Amino acid sequence: MGTHMTGGRLLHGGDYNPEQWLERPEILEEDIILMKEAGINCVTLGVFSWSMLEPEEGRYDFAWLAERIDRLYENGIQVILATPSGAMPHWLTQKYPEVMQVQEDEKRNLPGLRHNFCYTSPVMREKIRRMDLELSRRFGKHSAVILWHISNELGGNWGDGACHCEQCQSAFREWLRQKYHTLEELNHAWWNRFWSHVYTDWEQIHSPAPHGEALSHGLKLDWKRFVTEQMTDFCRGEIYAVRKYSNRPVTTNFMDFFKNLNYHRLQSCLNVISWDSYPQWHASKDEVPAAVRAAAGHSMMRSMKKQPFLLMESTPSCVNWRSFNPVKRPGMHMLSSMQAIAHGSDSVLYFQWRKSRGAYEKFHGAVVDHRNGGAARTFREVSEVGERLAAVQGLIEGTVNRPGAAIVFDWENWWALEDASGPRLDLDYVSEVLKHYQVFWEQGVDVDFVSMDEAFESYRIVCAPVNYLYRKGYAERVRAYVESGSCYVSTWFSGVADDTDLCFTGHHPLEDVLGILPEEIDAPGEGFENGFVYQGAHYSTGRICEIVHAAADTQVLAAYEQDFYAGCPAVARHSFGQGTGYYVAAETGLDFLRAFYQELLSEAGLHSPLGVPLPYGVTTAVRSGEREIVFVMNFRQENVSLQGIGDWEDAETGEICRDRLELGGFSLKMIRRKGA
Ligand code: GLA
Ligand code: ZN
Repeated sequence: MGTHMTGGRLLHGGDYNPEQWLERPEILEEDIILMKEAGINCVTLGVFSWSMLEPEEGRYDFAWLAERIDRLYENGIQVILATPSGAMPHWLTQKYPEVMQVQEDEKRNLPGLRHNFCYTSPVMREKIRRMDLELSRRFGKHSAVILWHISNELGGNWGDGACHCEQCQSAFREWLRQKYHTLEELNHAWWNRFWSHVYTDWEQIHSPAPHGEALSHGLKLDWKRFVTEQMTDFCRGEIYAVRKYSNRPVTTNFMDFFKNLNYHRLQSCLNVISWDSYPQWHASKDEVPAAVRAAAGHSMMRSMKKQPFLLMESTPSCVNWRSFNPVKRPGMHMLSSMQAIAHGSDSVLYFQWRKSRGAYEKFHGAVVDHRNGGAARTFREVSEVGERLAAVQGLIEGTVNRPGAAIVFDWENWWALEDASGPRLDLDYVSEVLKHYQVFWEQGVDVDFVSMDEAFESYRIVCAPVNYLYRKGYAERVRAYVESGSCYVSTWFSGVADDTDLCFTGHHPLEDVLGILPEEIDAPGEGFENGFVYQGAHYSTGRICEIVHAAADTQVLAAYEQDFYAGCPAVARHSFGQGTGYYVAAETGLDFLRAFYQELLSEAGLHSPLGVPLPYGVTTAVRSGEREIVFVMNFRQENVSLQGIGDWEDAETGEICRDRLELGGFSLKMIRRKGA
């Protein structure tokens, strides 16, 4: 989609806020000149422009925007047009206070900030609908406009990202009625006889709150589902409005592993996936954790539609919201931008084009700084990215990553797992998943992230770390997948509860596939260290040790060494049908996962296209389709030399790499098989 929409161009540009500079025509003129110099071909307009687009209720002033769009278009720069619901004008909140979000503690927000509207409020929906219709009528067919950007970072940055106002409460009750039909059903699903929480009237149901029902897992899970549905419905309302006079595709910008909204649901109403990526580069000399997390984010976004996505925001330099904000070291801007392309992005877009003079983000990195314009280092490095993107777009067009491995990442599992009040209260789903992802990344093997609802058939390996919740039908699909000859990895604390967080009784739903019978789950304290030997090497277990028993035909690959469960399987393998199920019963470190997956990957025939072990900090990704391009990335500050890799051609320079490849510190090369 991405590439079709962009007409084969890799987009380069980002958020542009000319409304902050309307009194400075020389600045607006300089913007165009500098954009061309930096190879900018696309900007995002209007993200937070509501007060400048509708200065008073019902009076629309689009002149400044029209002037900019025309001017950009004359200069070959395309436009992503945003709807302005990300921040509300004061006239709106003053006249209709009910548009403001109400927090968990029932306090209504005061006006200001952003991302703080009630997405149920009919007034809010109507006001933004009218705005969107006007924008669509006016600009929806403009040749410059290629994409609609709905709102901004939906789900916002307040508490649980939800609105708890009375209108949202009644919408929630209505949603529950549709789902459960009777209170009897609901009471059962949430196990409400516990602590005498049986509801006898729908009106008794209230959203979770710290000073109210904070511990009902069923309620909290359904509340989160409702919030996603309601936000999706709000988003759909905006999409419906902008599409009235326009056939341009729509997106909204997602965030890095954002817990408040189930993106797998929200994505279904969008044509293009886009996200905002702000890795924490240079937090230490080891860039791998940041590189892995960024790569995982890109892989996640690509996996949503198995299509190219857009990097909607990134910083050309630094951010301003961490406790310390290093600027990107020379080379890192190019590398991190190309990393997005390597994992399936069809764009490198920034927040933001020009640094604002005042207010909260005046020190956030931008392409054009307060001083030095086109002479600054950041500007030059951005220009180099622009030049490179323009040069390689022909190589990228019609390609996307098609990994042979997938990791199950599922929002409902995330919510339920971290809320489970189980063996540990500090379970962190994302970091556990990232450990598994990192091992693939280190091997130079890209991975898709899939929800529990997706088809696994195109993958040779699927791993599902801490897959606590099994949605209805999931176990059956995994069973069929393994039976037909594939490999499935499960870990500790998996297959425990169903859709409403009721524990399975009797058997583990995949007992037959995995060949294990779970009995207890231990969260050992200090002094109770345990470990196991796997393929001759010793590994320590972490703070979770599940005690499971092996079925008669299960192969125990490693067993606990200590405590009363010494001898019980820590790692097990079980053949099922044509395939194999693995169970990792204990929390482990990267050291074990490296050894474990190396074995599995080689069995499955998955490896880096370079065919050699990669040094720490180096990885590969492949985009294929009309042609195949291999991206080799070095996230170390030192040069590396890769040898024994066969013969390749540098796809950008045509240089032949005979059995070796040299990479500078913080750099990326695009190569292809010689003669391909
Ligand atoms: C988010 C927002 C932007 C900007 C950046 C700063 O991604 O969408 O408007 O505030 O953060 O990093
Ligand atoms: Zn509300």
